Amino acid sequence: MNSKELYSVRMRASFLGQHISGAERILQKEDIPKVLLELYKRPPKFDELVLTIEKLSSVKVIEKALSIYSYDFKSLEDARKFAIELLEKSGVSQSCAKFAIELLSRGASPDFKNMRGAALIDPQSCERLEKDPFRGVRTVKVDWLSRSEIKKTLLKRSIKREYLKRLPDALALATKNIHCGVLAELCWSDDPEYETGYVASPLLGYVRIKPMKQKGDPKGGRVYFVSKEKLEDIISCLEKLPILIKSL
Ligand code: COA
Ligand code: AMP
Repeated sequence: MNSKELYSVRMRASFLGQHISGAERILQKEDIPKVLLELYKRPPKFDELVLTIEKLSSVKVIEKALSIYSYDFKSLEDARKFAIELLEKSGVSQSCAKFAIELLSRGASPDFKNMRGAALIDPQSCERLEKDPFRGVRTVKVDWLSRSEIKKTLLKRSIKREYLKRLPDALALATKNIHCGVLAELCWSDDPEYETGYVASPLLGYVRIKPMKQKGDPKGGRVYFVSKEKLEDIISCLEKLPILIKSL
């Protein structure tokens, strides 16, 4: 791919004033029309759908995504205990790991709703570091060099077809986060039907954990553990640096 001719294509859709769907791609100009249609078809309903196309001046290529691991637990309690252990292994204090789980369970924004991005938390002091705790920080401008190849490889590795809707996007996002200097990430979806979450870190890779919440629960979110000294550089990387990931 010629990095001089790459574009960021982003879609966001809202229904009854609520954000309901978002997706993005990085691609060549000739692929834009096909992808615009694909992204337009993604939300099952909307009142407003915004498509943004932005020419990128340069794109960084990362060779490999985080390695994927999956663990299933019988109870939510056991799954969350495991997530806390993984965060501790990644350099997060036990109290900050527990705090992050409680935060996402109750809704991380000050009005106890889900945030519009990720909460940033210092791994030792548990201090909230994002400027706007309703919004948080969003990771954007990340995609796969060849999305179709990645999906084929995931299927070959016995990842169930039903997971292909989310896994490629979530893995790309987590890989960019770690590349930008996030110490560890904790995530579970705000989709009431989707109970699988993950912990990601440079040491452990991308660790899928089921269940991280009860079915039917609309609460979800992301916590990025970030040390205060590196805050500005990490936010700038998450929001601005375009990244393509080559392989699994
Ligand atoms: N959640 C909630 N609201 C969102 C949102 C999100 N993910 N993304 C955008 N919005 C809404 C907010 O109201 C935002 O205003 P704010 O900046 O004050 O919060 C407004 O839309 C404009 O957002 P902007 O950042 O300009 O959107 P964008 O056109 O750059 O698109 C997306 C960003 C939608 C592509 C990105 O947020 C996204 O969702 N990426 C996909 C992430 C992904 O793959 N997730 C799946 C993992 S399973
Ligand atoms: P999702 O994985 O799409 O269900 O999103 C779960 C939560 O992650 C949302 O409620 C937001 O708080 C947060 N989030 C969504 N998109 C992003 C993003 N691009 N960057 C960081 N956090 C996000």
